[in-house]
Amino acid sequence: MKILVTGGAGYIGSHTCVELLNAGYDVVVVDNLYNASVKSLDRVQQITGKSLTFYNADITDAEAMNAVFEKEQDVACVIHFAGLKAVGESVAKPLEYYRNNITGTLVLCEAMRSHGVKNIIFSSSATVYGDPAFVPITEQCPKGTPTNPYGWTKHMIEQMLTDLHTADKDWNVILLRYFNPIGAHKSGLIGEDPKGIPNNLLPYVAQVAIGKLPCLGIFGDDYDTPDGTGVRDYIHVVDLALGHVAAINRIKENPGVKVYNLGTGKGYSVLDVVKAFGKACGREVPYRIMPRRPGDIATYYSDATLAKEELGWEAQYGIEEMCEDSWRWQSSNPDGYETK
Ligand code: NAD
Ligand code: UD1
Repeated sequence: MKILVTGGAGYIGSHTCVELLNAGYDVVVVDNLYNASVKSLDRVQQITGKSLTFYNADITDAEAMNAVFEKEQDVACVIHFAGLKAVGESVAKPLEYYRNNITGTLVLCEAMRSHGVKNIIFSSSATVYGDPAFVPITEQCPKGTPTNPYGWTKHMIEQMLTDLHTADKDWNVILLRYFNPIGAHKSGLIGEDPKGIPNNLLPYVAQVAIGKLPCLGIFGDDYDTPDGTGVRDYIHVVDLALGHVAAINRIKENPGVKVYNLGTGKGYSVLDVVKAFGKACGREVPYRIMPRRPGDIATYYSDATLAKEELGWEAQYGIEEMCEDSWRWQSSNPDGYETK
């Protein structure tokens, strides 16, 4: 069975390609390499010993997308990762974010419809809950008001895909709301490779640990949490990847529109993560307390029961392994895919 993966050369996409190939699927990747290296796909093939098909194409390019579906006649399902994802950058560049993420999804879905492909699994985010009405967050928690264009693109794309099913019941849509993906494949061959100074906690900590950055700034220690720092639901990227394989099994049952949280159901503070990473890399990670980051929320973690019940999926890895695997990737590839 053939799966088309947009954004498959990226961080979560590459790990998902590994699990799809391991599960016996044929994999076709569409990525414009805007935020990825093609080396990630070489490594995916090295890890699995299997090959995949790669198109260097932009999902906003209708001609290119139609050409891909012309060539790849029998795509059973699309997993749609391609998108821009930096929260701060989206505030500065709203048009670029709306064009790439929204227009890109529209063009993709039009090409899918023209070629009779009507199964899509979408990378959404827990950011759609905004400041959540309750924690742990279930899928019943109402969607909140996003505080940035990135969050709005996820909010709007979820709506667009839902409307598509309302209009045509042949469409099946699975919206996966990720919590905080971290970690890397056990091989140390693929991992997160952010360009410039990382915005997210884990890549920042990893770059401090390797000596590329001097010190971690912790954004606030006066939240109403056990140690005062922000609490998040970190999930190992391989667990997340396996969640997509489970979602494919679900979409085969023609479920209509379904929403699943992909998280562990456990919250860890920034200080917990710093401590776990220090243990994994064998040295203390220097940090200093800074003012709160605007837009941050104190506590955010999932109730992932629905995914367990309906997808038969549950996260396996704990924070120690997430940090160990991040460190293996970081220490063996200090400059990411550009490491000589
Ligand atoms: P990533 O940047 O590593 O991967 C995205 C990939 O999409 C990149 O390879 C990029 O080159 C590609 N891409 C972007 N625009 C494209 C376009 N117009 N045409 C073709 N390819 C394009 O990011 P990631 O962390 O792997 O995230 C994957 C998806 O998951 C994104 O949609 C992201 O918003 C979502 N998500 C990520 C997180 C996270 O913390 N990493 C959390 C929630 C949701
Ligand atoms: C962020 C985005 C969220 C997006 C998610 C995907 C914001 C406000 N939210 O989530 O929309 O879906 O990334 O990756 O940007 N921290 C530090 N120092 C740092 C970096 C982070 O103390 O240098 C803290 C944060 O305050 C937070 C925790 O670490 O408490 C996690 O931060 P981060 O990795 O940026 O993720 P989120 O803010 O949860």
